[in-house]
Amino acid sequence: MAHRHVINTQIAILGAGPAGLMLSHLLAKAGIESTVLELRSHQEIAETARAGILEHGSVKLLVDSGVSDRVVRNGDRHDGIELRFNGESHRIDFQDLVGESVWLYPQTDVFLDLAGRRQADGGDVRYSVTDTTVHDLEGEAKVWFTDADGVDFELRADFVAGADGSRSYCRSLIPEAQRKRYFHEYPFAWFGVLAEAPRSSEELIYANSDHGFALISQRTETVQRMYFQCDPDEDVNNWSDERIWETFRSRVNGNGFELKEGPVLDKTVLKFRSSVHTPMRHGKLFLAGDAAHTVPPTGAKGLNLALNDVKVLFEGLDSFYQTGSTALLDTYSSRALDRVWKAQQFSYWMTSMLHTPAEADDFQRARQLGELNAVVSSHHGRAYLAEAYTGWPGAR
Ligand code: DHB
Repeated sequence: MAHRHVINTQIAILGAGPAGLMLSHLLAKAGIESTVLELRSHQEIAETARAGILEHGSVKLLVDSGVSDRVVRNGDRHDGIELRFNGESHRIDFQDLVGESVWLYPQTDVFLDLAGRRQADGGDVRYSVTDTTVHDLEGEAKVWFTDADGVDFELRADFVAGADGSRSYCRSLIPEAQRKRYFHEYPFAWFGVLAEAPRSSEELIYANSDHGFALISQRTETVQRMYFQCDPDEDVNNWSDERIWETFRSRVNGNGFELKEGPVLDKTVLKFRSSVHTPMRHGKLFLAGDAAHTVPPTGAKGLNLALNDVKVLFEGLDSFYQTGSTALLDTYSSRALDRVWKAQQFSYWMTSMLHTPAEADDFQRARQLGELNAVVSSHHGRAYLAEAYTGWPGAR
């Protein structure tokens, strides 16, 4: 076999999405070395459209750890959202209810900030690697990989962090008998649209209607991000601009409110699923982010959960290197999962409360409107939503 160049590090991180890069950044600040391996190219990650809402705790982590203050300079602070049903909007005032806000700042920008910071700090991040395999997790952990130039390496590390996304290879390294998979599929998907148009509303609109759900989000002064509930098998090629706008109009317009329309720049179908894989730790391997759990997009919890995992994992690793104690590493899985299940519940609840199943009968539809009414007409109902949406106090 060809010779492998040996690299010694403390933490081998698989995946250079927000979870892997944030972990590497926090470790570097604490004087702990890491190498990050990523199968995709920098460009491919930067061009993937993802959700756009950051909890206040996520913003604090990005700013306080010195990744970038671009999120507060260029991002938009949102102090509330609108829930729209029966043709009427009901504002959920986050500041008034729980004294917190969220920031609209796309995940792509979070990635660019993190990748830029790691590069500026001399971090070892290798994109476009191939043939990544992990060995000897029970002994001296090693990761074999081939870099973008075709050179073979052996990365030796104290621990391995699997931040390698929803189709995680690292997850499969945990013996099947020792892991459990929780899974839920939903009978809908989102049709995501990027449109060249001015903003239609100051805040995000989550709209429930007889025709299904729609979400009006934003990107810039001239480009808007919007979604409508569709069938999981929907084909974007069957959707002309006019058909797309007609769908939004029927779900959102009314009572004096009209969406601002314009050319559609991009359209994609997003599949819905909830999954949790436990435990998130096996010996020297720790899973973080989508590698361990995915949520449906309603409420935009995915990235926020990934950042929370990484913060909890960093605390465990830092404590180990400072004191030799594995106490915080030993409780990593249960501490991270605490927030994961809260977010699963919130994402499931927002999804089921706002979407209309194709087969819903009159009772189910009327019950759903009763639920929406119960939430918006109660201080406690609105506060429950506001606390979950802006991010529970706790681990972070
Ligand atoms: C966005 C996505 C979401 O899933 C959400 O709940 C809010 C906003 C977005 O992409 O802007």
